[in-house]
Amino acid sequence: MLGEGGAGGSPGASAAAPVQLIDGQGRAITDLRISVTDRCNLRCVYCLPARGARFLAPGRLLSFGEIARLAAVAVGLGIRKLRLTGGEPLVRADLDRLVARLCAIPGVADVPLTTNGVLLAGQAEALYAAGARRLNISLDAVEAGAFQRMTRAPALRAVLVGIAAARRAGFRDIKLNMIPIRGQNEDQILPLARWAVDEGLHLRFIEYMPFGANPWSPEQMLSAKEVHRRLGEAFSLGPGRRASPSSPAVDHQVLGTGAYLGFIPSMTAPFCPNCSRLRLTADGRLRPCLHADTEIDVAAALRAGAPPERLRGLLRLAAASKPPGRVLAAPGKPPQQRRFMASVGG
Ligand code: 5AD
Ligand code: SF4
Repeated sequence: MLGEGGAGGSPGASAAAPVQLIDGQGRAITDLRISVTDRCNLRCVYCLPARGARFLAPGRLLSFGEIARLAAVAVGLGIRKLRLTGGEPLVRADLDRLVARLCAIPGVADVPLTTNGVLLAGQAEALYAAGARRLNISLDAVEAGAFQRMTRAPALRAVLVGIAAARRAGFRDIKLNMIPIRGQNEDQILPLARWAVDEGLHLRFIEYMPFGANPWSPEQMLSAKEVHRRLGEAFSLGPGRRASPSSPAVDHQVLGTGAYLGFIPSMTAPFCPNCSRLRLTADGRLRPCLHADTEIDVAAALRAGAPPERLRGLLRLAAASKPPGRVLAAPGKPPQQRRFMASVGG
């Protein structure tokens, strides 16, 4: 990790339980990614269709109490990091209250959020006060027209204002995620990188993945290698390094500055052997792998008031069900996931 949570309301790892979720490959499961809603206020071209996406009825969403109950049991099994995602997590009302509840679980080290930033200006202070210290913000362009082509919404200004508000609120660890797509926003790679470096923000390029019904094609995917080459026209990059052994990102210092540019080569160098994650969908299914449709229902157990032992059993089952590597569509073959990315939470 390049930045740590500060003092005050931020969580502490003092009471951390030993890691008990070890999967069949010996991988230690220490991260739970929690989707709090499948809805989103944007329609990114690589994630959701322009029209006709079907979302869960509100009654299907896990309540904050249910999420916190499962999270506490997971932390008791050695989970340290609880990342909140969506859809767009900030469209869920009073999200700061969930952050505060999760930060209060003894043993939690980190409650970061992955957001599109559109609603951040109004929520940054409350999220920081609740104990969040790290944000990943999706940003695929730094020019209004290109942003709107990618997200189908005229919301660039809101995101930029949101990023500024988050910094004012005290967030020091903000990462930007860009998915470069050939023929769509590749002209934004250098402008976005220049802007991020000037702002001292850490930008990462994620390789475009086939998912759900998105119109992925192998030609559209820009590899980390290709983007690295293009960045070389404008920056001198230092050697690549991982923030931690279980981080899928490889970061390069922009020499002569304090800024970093990084890559998540999810297609050309998948990170399965070091994966430390489980996912919880907004409707309460544990997903052992982003790329496989296996789901373990915890909503029913939570709603039936199942005791912690039962929840521990379901978490252990989810860890044991992690495939060794992803079962992803080979290039040219259709993806197998039934859900949109927005309903799994990246
Ligand atoms: N390929 C790669 N990354 C994706 N994300 C969403 N859809 C895709 C895709 N098809 C990323 C977004 C966001 C995170 C939640 O997941 O950029 O940062
Ligand atoms: Fe919304 Fe994120 Fe999907 Fe874009 S990628 S539509 S911001 S959930």
